[in-house]
Amino acid sequence: MASGWNETTARHVLQQHGQLHVLEFWDELTATERHQLLAQLVEVDYAGLTASWQTQANAAASADALDLSRAEPPPALRLPITTIDSSLATDEAITRTRRLGEQAMARGGLGFVLVAGGQGTRLGFPHPKGMFPCGPVSQRSLFQIYVDRLLALRRRYGVSIPLYLMTSPATHDETVEFFRRHRNFNYPESDVMIFCQGTMPSLDIVTGRLLLAEKHALALSPNGHGGTLEALQRYGCLEDMRARRVEHLWYFQVDNPLVPLGDPFFLGAHLQAQSEMTTQVGAKRDPAERVGNVIALDGRLHVVEYTELPETLAQQRDVDGSLRYWAGNLAVHLFERTFLERMSGRSDVLPYHLARKKVEYRNQRGERMVPEAPNAIKFEKFIFDLMPHAARPLVVEVDLQVAFAPIKNADGADRDTPQSAREAMVSLHRRWLEEAGAQLAPDILVEIDPQFAWDVTELAQKLPPATRVLRDTFFTLK
Ligand code: UD1
Repeated sequence: MASGWNETTARHVLQQHGQLHVLEFWDELTATERHQLLAQLVEVDYAGLTASWQTQANAAASADALDLSRAEPPPALRLPITTIDSSLATDEAITRTRRLGEQAMARGGLGFVLVAGGQGTRLGFPHPKGMFPCGPVSQRSLFQIYVDRLLALRRRYGVSIPLYLMTSPATHDETVEFFRRHRNFNYPESDVMIFCQGTMPSLDIVTGRLLLAEKHALALSPNGHGGTLEALQRYGCLEDMRARRVEHLWYFQVDNPLVPLGDPFFLGAHLQAQSEMTTQVGAKRDPAERVGNVIALDGRLHVVEYTELPETLAQQRDVDGSLRYWAGNLAVHLFERTFLERMSGRSDVLPYHLARKKVEYRNQRGERMVPEAPNAIKFEKFIFDLMPHAARPLVVEVDLQVAFAPIKNADGADRDTPQSAREAMVSLHRRWLEEAGAQLAPDILVEIDPQFAWDVTELAQKLPPATRVLRDTFFTLK
């Protein structure tokens, strides 16, 4: 029996929800397989599934329900820092904001959550994306790049910093093994928590019936990065944060090696605004850029995916020619822990987004079917749907060249590839070295470990005078 469910309970509940067919092969199953199937069935949110299914059948998916004709660009701290809060317009005010962020970090008030449950299908890398070798000279993996940055932060502020790393069933074991093999990249064992997100069953696109991947197993897929909220609670991470007096949680994705983890200005601005959720955005370079759009609607902030923003709105421009809906979501958020605690108790805050996908399944005769066209509905929650629920949410613009180089596609695509990310890293670090007084041969690759130098100031202190860099170099601790 699994968590209080036996065959009778299962039959009763499934019957009520019109899903009894998943027990079609019950008589053929071994005791272990029956146990496994019951364990999956007990976890399913049948009412939620049915409600979402009906919504999509009425062609009114959750996000589409927003009346975007009244959408406005979001209020934001724009580059250079001028709007919303004029007190931020001076260097002195910026310094004050940074100092606030630094003080919070020195108190040990900041933790990080890295979401790494996606399968990276577009990249065509057959492992968790975090294992992708990305350092232009060092070949460091994405995971190591983030850990090195957190190690540098710990040293800088003399505190321990918890890293909560969310995987999915598809990425969990390999990720755990990768960290074990590399001894957590020197990150203290007690400060890395790797946990697996929840899953959702897929439904047949026509009938709304649960699909079976095996005779004893549902076709399941990760429940989206919105699953972070539930998983942080379920695995005791929020509890752990409370015990450590960590008040703020910095959320980031696995695919952006330039993510400015621990930027004191971002944290300081969040604190100054007493925001419960602060989001980094970048000015979109063209209307079709494949990033979510942060918009304001009826006094609340939302993220609307690029697939959901009508073309007419995406194309709109202001008199100066800039895009009216300019704020691209960089998927970096700062959350107050208390906000997450409040939201994690509520099942209604994150709606399901539905996607039509190809999912392999077993037909009524138990034969494996490999569809050639989308045959299934998958359900995902998005973390950014917390935004309309946050008090005093804040939007902060960052410079894309400094803070955003996502790896989404395989080399050869026109953007967001490993090559474009490496080029962005090299060009940023070349600039730092030149500002720090070094002379660089043209066309060489350079890369700086944040443990070697956190910023240009530290770099200038570390480099001997009149440094000349003549070949590809990784600046790291000896
Ligand atoms: C995402 C955002 C988009 C933003 C862009 C910035 C969504 C729906 N859209 O797009 O608004 O502008 O990033 O780069 O998120 N993940 C999980 N579990 C899941 C699904 C995803 O952990 O079940 C993780 C992935 O590992 C990845 C991140 O979430 O780190 C983003 O997922 P992905 O589906 O690749 O989103 P994008 O389309 O890149």
